[in-house]
Amino acid sequence: MLKIAVLVSGGGTNLQALIDAQERGEIPGGKLSLVVAGKPGIFALERAKKAGIPSTVLRKKDFASQEDYDNALIQTLEEAEIDLVVLAGFLTIIGEKVIRRFENKILNIHPSLIPSFCGEGYYGLRVHEAALSRGVKVTGATVHFVNEICDGGPIVLQKAVSVENGDTPETLQRRVMEQVEWEILPKAVALFCEGRLAIENNIVSIKD
Ligand code: GAR
Repeated sequence: MLKIAVLVSGGGTNLQALIDAQERGEIPGGKLSLVVAGKPGIFALERAKKAGIPSTVLRKKDFASQEDYDNALIQTLEEAEIDLVVLAGFLTIIGEKVIRRFENKILNIHPSLIPSFCGEGYYGLRVHEAALSRGVKVTGATVHFVNEICDGGPIVLQKAVSVENGDTPETLQRRVMEQVEWEILPKAVALFCEGRLAIENNIVSIKD
């Protein structure tokens, strides 16, 4: 059974989707074992508490440097013997040291069809604002492995939804979350925990 840490910065609806999937028995190879919050007081921490998942807060601003923060994060994850790290709306930049220590063991959910509307500065509502400004007719979300390139790691799962007349960034964000993110994130985590994801030349294949 792999131990999963979920890193969060906000409301934690993706964390909730993982909790619900686990309760339905849909992540048989893994156990949600730790929640790491980027700041105190966020609702994701309430969700962790209600689900009985241990949690901790690590604020980057409490550390003198990126390296100090990375070391603290690595220590926290190692102490909990974490096998898979899931970034679920986590807005703190994690450094290369963490990425190297957990190479091909960090998954991120991004609210667009990568390579559109991704990279530095594209997070949360901004992604949906950009999609609407460009006038795309479909958008969606992507689960990918995290490497040293922002939103540039190997893609695991994607799913599209239509943009509808009259959409606002808020309505589009909600549709992408409900119809895509809450489905593909637990699915990708389950596939990882079953050992069904293989990466070769930056391409993920899903084994039967
Ligand atoms: C989600 O839409 C997630 O895809 C996005 O933040 C939101 C977090 O919501 N992540 C990014 O934009 C990362 N670049 P949640 O806290 O309710 O899960």
